[in-house]
Amino acid sequence: MDDFQKAAARARELHRELAHHNYRYYVLDSPEVSDAQYDKLMRELQDLEAKHPSLQTPDSPTQRVGGAAAEEFGEVVHRAPMLSLANIFEDQGLIEFDERIRKLVGLPGIAYVCEPKLDGLAIALRYEKGAFVQGATRGDGTTGEDVTSNLRTIRSLPMSLFPQDGVKVPDVLEVRGEVFIRKKDFQKLNEKREEEGEPLFANPRNAAAGSLRQLDPRMTAARPLSVFLYECVPGEGVPVFKTHIEKLEYLKTLGLPINQYRRAEGLEGVRQAYDASLKGRHELPFEVDGMVVKVDDEDQRKRLGQVSKSPRWAVAYKFPPEEESTEVMDIGIQVGRTGALTPVAHLKPVKVGGVTVARATLHNEDELRRKDVRKGDTVFVRRAGDVIPEIVSVVLSKRPADSAPFEFPKHCPVCDAVATKDEDGAIIRCTGASCPAQLVEKIRHFASRLAMDIEGLGDKLAAQLVSTGRVKAFADLYALTKENLLTLERMGDKSADNLIASLERSKQTTQRRFLYSLGIRHVGDATAKALAEAFPQSEMLFTASLEDISRVKDVGPIMAQVIHTFFQEPQNQEAIRALLAAGVQPAAPQVATGGPFVGKSVVLTGAMTGMTREQAKEEVERRGGKVAGSVSRKTDFVVAGEDAGSKLKKAQELGVRILDEHAFLQMLQTNA
Ligand code: IVH
Repeated sequence: MDDFQKAAARARELHRELAHHNYRYYVLDSPEVSDAQYDKLMRELQDLEAKHPSLQTPDSPTQRVGGAAAEEFGEVVHRAPMLSLANIFEDQGLIEFDERIRKLVGLPGIAYVCEPKLDGLAIALRYEKGAFVQGATRGDGTTGEDVTSNLRTIRSLPMSLFPQDGVKVPDVLEVRGEVFIRKKDFQKLNEKREEEGEPLFANPRNAAAGSLRQLDPRMTAARPLSVFLYECVPGEGVPVFKTHIEKLEYLKTLGLPINQYRRAEGLEGVRQAYDASLKGRHELPFEVDGMVVKVDDEDQRKRLGQVSKSPRWAVAYKFPPEEESTEVMDIGIQVGRTGALTPVAHLKPVKVGGVTVARATLHNEDELRRKDVRKGDTVFVRRAGDVIPEIVSVVLSKRPADSAPFEFPKHCPVCDAVATKDEDGAIIRCTGASCPAQLVEKIRHFASRLAMDIEGLGDKLAAQLVSTGRVKAFADLYALTKENLLTLERMGDKSADNLIASLERSKQTTQRRFLYSLGIRHVGDATAKALAEAFPQSEMLFTASLEDISRVKDVGPIMAQVIHTFFQEPQNQEAIRALLAAGVQPAAPQVATGGPFVGKSVVLTGAMTGMTREQAKEEVERRGGKVAGSVSRKTDFVVAGEDAGSKLKKAQELGVRILDEHAFLQMLQTNA
């Protein structure tokens, strides 16, 4: 064996060992080695890959976090439709389900398998020759979104199958299951969000869904997702299973995480399983909203088939919602980071479904009116898988005689500016452009990657700058000095230098970034681009009429109104003038009319040495091209940097023209 072969063999061994330890840690929750020992193995693999870059394959455990942000998700057509389940809520529903099946199958008793109904979202995974190559959301059941890079960040999901001795891995294996978030991870995630002033996730399902649909896999990597598999699509090399349990056990022999299940004989067996799982639901480390009952025998399943989008052989037996009564101590108003005024009921603490509840959201003014919740009321609160509980109803017979309806404030309780209703009429928002409750969020957005891209100015620093009064408006950022910064907590010499440098760098920007950075409601990056093309100087927007703005591509009447109001507001004009006076120079977009990129669809993959993905994207767009997230027949070029993975492969398969970094740079030159 030469040096490379030795390294390759060791790398393979390390893949297997790391996968095994991931399984112990993330699936079984019983690690065999310390974190330090695990890190040591990981470092050994990283070193090997640094020495022999060809060992750094996409299925390497070193590649879980990485991958650059996508513009949009690609589409994946499922090999077989992804079905959903019909719900039942009571014993009667179960009786009917069992009766129907017995009749259709023609047997007196049916064997079932009961599984916890995880509160997450369904996914389909594809392994080729044992390597994880693609994963997709359910979507409409036929076509889902390609979330491969995000799924790679899930530690309990093996990047390669490591079958037990004697088990053969099929060439292509498609498995299905649920991505979810464990209770303790969910709690940690929300604590972190609270600290950073971000809105909390109402329940683990929303957290899992939101995290899996992040365009930037680095964001997903920071969210602690888990996965369990429960199905597998028939295909060549996949055993033909007699029962569902056999299938689950097969998935397990391949090293895939499967959840606990329970076999149940007939109706009575299912009833017992349901009672047990209802009792034990709070003991589980993840949120479950019911129990899935499935026919165990695969032949029977085939005969039963499906109705519309649900199989006849399975049903979701939902748990009843958990309710308790308590007292409303007070009603307060919270001002969110986007200025939304949300009424919140402060409750006498009460335990609902194993969790102590002291606050309940009342959502908005309409909801508050409809329910007419008042201070002193006795109310029923419900947690239906949701961590943020809801008030279901008021016990009117217990209402104190002197109670009065809650008066929604006309002014922001934080800055006293007028609060007005949103265009859709549901949300009341503070109009104060420099309302401290909103300022942190505005600054954070201003500094974000697609906006002014001020590296080093994250949430925590934004919060510090606002709370210490150093920044009251955007332009104040450009007046910061190193001495100023050094007085802040946790700010070192080097970070201060870096921040000043990135502030300086951010002054040379584009009109598109500049408009986006202002944080105008509804104006995302794409609208900012269209606006910048129509209004290359911001001052033009001060005098633009509503009609002028409505004519901009993709700007609808509501958006036009919001944009118009924004630029009419003297405070906002002042903020823009102050930024320009501070030296910010937004360059007008150059519209390309000729050259190799005009009208072309380009996909960027792998890392380039000379520029970031963002910069490459801007260069292409400046030349009239469009950057897409995934390769298809419509793609004109794929720019492949170092370590390009599946997108490069796909381009080769489809015969799409591939440019390396050098060729890409040359092509940019010919068109400058
Ligand atoms: S079986 C046809 N098993 O519930 C088979 N689904 O309401 C359909 N779910 O889309 C899926 N836990 O996202 C199955 N143990 C489990 C499940 C489960 C959660 C979800 C899944 C599905 C939805 C249907």
